Amino acid sequence: MTVQSPVRQHITLDPENWSELRELAHHMLDDLLSYMETLRERPVWQPVPDAVKARLAEPLPAQPQPVETVYQQFADDVLPYPMGNTHPRFWGWVMGAGTPLGVLADMLASGFNPNMGGGEHAANYLEAQVIDWTKQMFGFPAEASGLLVSGGSMANLIGLAVARHAQSHFNFRQQGLFGAPARMMLYCSAETHSSVQRAAEVLGLGGDSIRSIPVNDQFQTDIGALEAAIAADRSAGLQPFCVVGTAGTTNTGGMDDLNRMADICQREGLWFHVDGAFGAFAAIAPDLKHLTAGIERADSLAFDWHKWPQLPFEVGCVLVRDGAIQRQTFTLRPDYLKHEERGVAGADLWFSDYGVELSRGFKALKVWMALKVYGVEQLARLVAQNVEQARYFGQMIAAAPEMECLAPVTLNIVCFRYHPGGWDESRLDRLNHELLLRIQESGLAVMTGTRIGGKFALRASITNHRTRFEDIDQVLAAVQQTGKTLAEAEAYPAL
Ligand SMILES: Cc1ncc(COP(=O)(O)O)c(C=O)c1O
Repeated sequence: MTVQSPVRQHITLDPENWSELRELAHHMLDDLLSYMETLRERPVWQPVPDAVKARLAEPLPAQPQPVETVYQQFADDVLPYPMGNTHPRFWGWVMGAGTPLGVLADMLASGFNPNMGGGEHAANYLEAQVIDWTKQMFGFPAEASGLLVSGGSMANLIGLAVARHAQSHFNFRQQGLFGAPARMMLYCSAETHSSVQRAAEVLGLGGDSIRSIPVNDQFQTDIGALEAAIAADRSAGLQPFCVVGTAGTTNTGGMDDLNRMADICQREGLWFHVDGAFGAFAAIAPDLKHLTAGIERADSLAFDWHKWPQLPFEVGCVLVRDGAIQRQTFTLRPDYLKHEERGVAGADLWFSDYGVELSRGFKALKVWMALKVYGVEQLARLVAQNVEQARYFGQMIAAAPEMECLAPVTLNIVCFRYHPGGWDESRLDRLNHELLLRIQESGLAVMTGTRIGGKFALRASITNHRTRFEDIDQVLAAVQQTGKTLAEAEAYPAL
């Protein structure tokens, strides 16, 4: 029997006309670089108008549209309404501002488009190189392992999964927590980032397995309280397994005494995980390094490349001191993923053995390019610059009679409020909340809010390579002016 060849109509997503697309691509890149060059001229943030929201809520597109039209919609309806984090006066939460180099690296990574789960290809060697450099930056030994992940939350999840595996005295991978003879307990300060709690929940430990330890007046884990909690749990028949220290707490930038926490873990046989999402980078700055002393003793360390090093979202990293344990926690080798001696599956190192993701993007390229183009010393100067700016910010507040700092400025975060004097706490909270929103809505700056000791605080977190000292002066003048207007008018809603 002869097989009839079907009439073949080939469909591809490549352009019909490469020259036209090339021209548009150059145009897009030019537009984007101009946008970045002129960021300072635009508001940091502005609300998305209802008309724009309505235009963005479209039916599922069934038919092709010209890419020029779609790009125009992006330019008209998306680009003018950013979150604001690329702007020099964005100091909300903890975010990086991105860089033009990051744009280029992400573009190359998408075009090259390798799957970083594993295999014998050059991109894998770049991620291995980045992990090796990272070990050197934080004083980890050569046998440590690591993985680029989506961010600090995922890095904490991976670190704590390895901790749970390493500390279970039974076959955790087979039995899960049903095999645990006693509840496994984790210790972290009350200032620990919520991603640690989420990790404990996802890992099946549950919130009741977390002991929240109070902090001292420097927002550091109270070491005596930590020791007492571990001892009490042991006496109650529970199994302490992990202590989480934080290098740079989200609220105030507090730096735990990592050496003392490492001592406790060593003595008690516990896993020591450090969440250094942004604060770990103090370790690369000679004048700040002392704040992170002991970070090199962590069993696992989580941090973000998309925060202080300014890489575009998203890229974080986890390091594990004993690489073999990280691998044992995750490795799975079904037939279709058999690692070979030769050929494309022939690499020694498969990143999918070290975490929960199989297919992975080429995040390593932007980290590799940034480390080579800037050098670690320039990144360190950037960290130091932001810390100097935050300290200046704090000094300016301390010098202004109608403002007050609500926490010490240890690193890059300033928590403060407008305080005309003689007001009760609830009224101060309401005034400062309104003040925060008015500054955001004015487009001048973005800070975000938090509570320090129950008091509502404006929180400026400077992890931004575009911020200048003049920006701080300008924003503080606006805070004072707006605070005065609000105090006089008493026109602010209840919280
Ligand atoms: C201390 C700390 N840990 C973890 C995270 C979570 O990181 P990501 O947002 O990259 O998941 C943050 C975020 O700000 C943080 O400040």
